[in-house]
Formats: sequence, C-alpha cells, structure tokens
Amino acid sequence: MPEDHFGERVAARYDETSAEMFDPAVVEPAVDFLAELAGEGAALELGIGTGRIALPLARRGVRLHGIDLSEAMVARLREKPGGEEISVTIGDFATTKVDGTFALAYLVWNTINNLTTQDGQVACFENVAAHLEPGGCFVIEVGVPKLRRLPPGQTFVPFDVSPEHLGFDEYDVVAQGLISHHYYPGAGEQVSMPFRYVWPAELDLMARIAGMSRRERWSGWKREPFTAESRKHVSVWQKTS
Ligand SMILES: C[S@@+](CC[C@H](N)C(=O)[O-])C[C@H]1O[C@@H](n2cnc3c(N)ncnc32)[C@H](O)[C@@H]1O
Repeated sequence: MPEDHFGERVAARYDETSAEMFDPAVVEPAVDFLAELAGEGAALELGIGTGRIALPLARRGVRLHGIDLSEAMVARLREKPGGEEISVTIGDFATTKVDGTFALAYLVWNTINNLTTQDGQVACFENVAAHLEPGGCFVIEVGVPKLRRLPPGQTFVPFDVSPEHLGFDEYDVVAQGLISHHYYPGAGEQVSMPFRYVWPAELDLMARIAGMSRRERWSGWKREPFTAESRKHVSVWQKTS
C-alpha cells in the first residue's frame, strides 16, 4: 500500500485549507459535468476524500462508490450530511477492486499526481478500465506541468505567497517528480507532499494502453477551450474495448 499523506493532521484541516475549492462556483460546474456523463449509471470516485465533489453529486441522484487510502479523510466525509450513505472502500485506487461496473470514473484536483510512479499511473488507468462498462468514461482534472516557469538551474516555483500560506513546488525534472511544500505561519504547520507530474499526451497514451481513447479535452469544467496557455485540463477518455 502506498504511504498515506492525508493522515489525521492533514485531514483535520483539509476543508479549511482548501476552502476556495469548496466554493460552489468551483464545485457546481464539476458536478454538472460529471452528472451529465454518469446519466442513469453509477459513478466511481478515486480519492473521494472528504466528499467535496461526491456529496453534491450524490445529492443529484448519482449512485456513487468511493475509493480512498485515508481513513482520516473518509472519517470527515462520514461526519457530513449524506456522508454515511456513500459506500467507500479503503485502499489504493491504482489497484483496489470494488464490486459492480460503472458508467463513470473520475479523479479530480490533481489526484492522479498522488501516484508517484509512471507504473502506478498506468495501473490506475488499467484499474479504471476494468471497472467501466463498455462506453463508460474516465475523467481526470489535472494541472499542466509548469515547467515553463522553471529557469535553467532552478527547482522551486512559488504557487501561493500570502500571510496565511506559503506554497512552493520543488521540481525534479529528471524523475518527473515534484514535492509541494506548504507553510501555514499562523498555525505553525508545515506539510510536504510528493507527486508525479504528468503530461496530457502521456495520459492519452496511458488511456490507450488501458483500452480507452480520448473523447474530450477542455481547460475547465464549463468546457472552456484547451489552449497553449491553459494551466489545467479536464479530459475524458472512453472505454473502447
Ligand atoms: C487532493 S485530495 C482530493 C479529495 C477529493 N477528491 C476532493 O476533490 O476534495 C486527494 C485524495 O486522494 C487520496 N489518495 C491519494 N493517493 C491515493 C491512492 N493511491 N489511493 C487512494 N486514495 C488516494 C487522499 O487520501 C485524498 O483523500
């Protein structure tokens, strides 16, 4: 099992430190997009966490199952209204099997990057394909690697500098890895988390290896065009075999 980086200390402050991601203006377009793809079918969320997306999606009537490594994050989901009704399997979403098949599987907010090896990310696509119905869709929301912001010889890119929070990504361009360092001066907290950044075209190839093909790529949940300046993408692959 991979190391759990979302233990009690992170889970206890997750919703508070991610408050802008819980804004209905952020959540609702994602839920609209996912609900439309799920249709009458069931959905599988990889890395369900505290239910930021799962709870409003379940309120739309979508039948949901979640997978997460962190008991502490899922405990926070359980405390929320409707959180007890969502079935969750504790395990690694690259390998964990659950009962049933799904019209939709999704992995939001850079969570594919939590798998820190290419093999792990490929295994995740293969695991998703094994759970999808023919024609079922896999959706990933993930940032475009910010290597254009990295001058030669430099390894750190600041992504948030405010009195409450200092955030720096530390890049390892040889191993295609990065560590996100977060400092919260007010709380006296520091969290560093490892990731593997991944290119859009690399994800398309992983999908192909797993028997899926790309159906859509946008720069946001409202189907904004994906361009050379896009900082993230929302991509949809469909199970073809
Ligand atoms: C950034 S949080 C996202 C949570 C939720 N999807 C959201 O949008 O708020 C990432 C979640 O993925 C889980 N996670 C990370 N790596 C995992 C893995 N290999 N298997 C299962 N869950 C994992 C973490 O425990 C955490 O709950």
